[in-house]
Amino acid sequence: MDHQLIQRAAEDILNSKKTIAFTGAGISVESGIPDFRGAQGLWQKYDPEEYAHIHAFYSNPDRVWLMLKDMFSLIMTAKPNPAHMGLAELERMGYLSSVITQNVDGLHQAAGSRNVIEFHGTHRTLSCLKCSTTIDGTSLKMEDLPPRCSRCSSLLKPDIVFFGESIPWEAQVLSFKESKSCSVVLSIGTSAVVYPAASIPMTAKERGAIVIEINMEPTPLTDQISDYLISGSAGEIIPAIVDQVKRSSKPR
Ligand code: OAD
Repeated sequence: MDHQLIQRAAEDILNSKKTIAFTGAGISVESGIPDFRGAQGLWQKYDPEEYAHIHAFYSNPDRVWLMLKDMFSLIMTAKPNPAHMGLAELERMGYLSSVITQNVDGLHQAAGSRNVIEFHGTHRTLSCLKCSTTIDGTSLKMEDLPPRCSRCSSLLKPDIVFFGESIPWEAQVLSFKESKSCSVVLSIGTSAVVYPAASIPMTAKERGAIVIEINMEPTPLTDQISDYLISGSAGEIIPAIVDQVKRSSKPR
């Protein structure tokens, strides 16, 4: 871990009027949920065109639910890791305005983050595409999957954004409001290749914000958009930044 960059990030956060975090699947890898595009990623096992496109859900929901079952079995037992905890602590200390996450696992909220914007929806609720009934998914048992609508018995779809679907309107509006008004973005554990999510750090950069990347490897943001990349695991880097912020901060 590069301690000079940790210190630089802490100083940038301390000098910032408003800091936001933009997170992707990489932040939950240390909670046991694989990312999408890595060597162990979900898209190595399942072709997203066949399993994650909304047309695939309409044409073959049973097959799509095989992938969802795989994903849900990990999400439902996962616990937040030190990276999620660190961001929640930064918010409590008054140094983080919001977390915009592409993840649907709810681990930021479980760690105690309050202002979480779920850009790609959530696994916690499911809806019927035929009659629009919505149910709470948190108490679903693995043996109840795939779940059916109690009103019309169609297969339910989790309220996560599939390829070909639009971003929840409120999440999109709030996210771009945050990205246009912040001075620092922490872009954590995302390959930044899926749009419109990936334009969040870019929008902030266009307005003069500092973009700090925390990732195991470079991404399309690195060198183009990011001011610097802190290489390594989010579970080590975020707590180190939070510790440094605490050491250098005056009470707010
Ligand atoms: P990806 O799988 O594309 O990228 C994960 C990123 O996290 C990679 O850049 C990894 O290098 C990095 N990473 C892995 N482990 C890490 C760790 N411990 N610490 C820090 N970084 C780590 O996941 P996303 O960028 O979230 O959308 O993918 C974006 C969207 O693509 C997802 O929301 C999902 C997917 O298709 C939809 O399904 C609509």
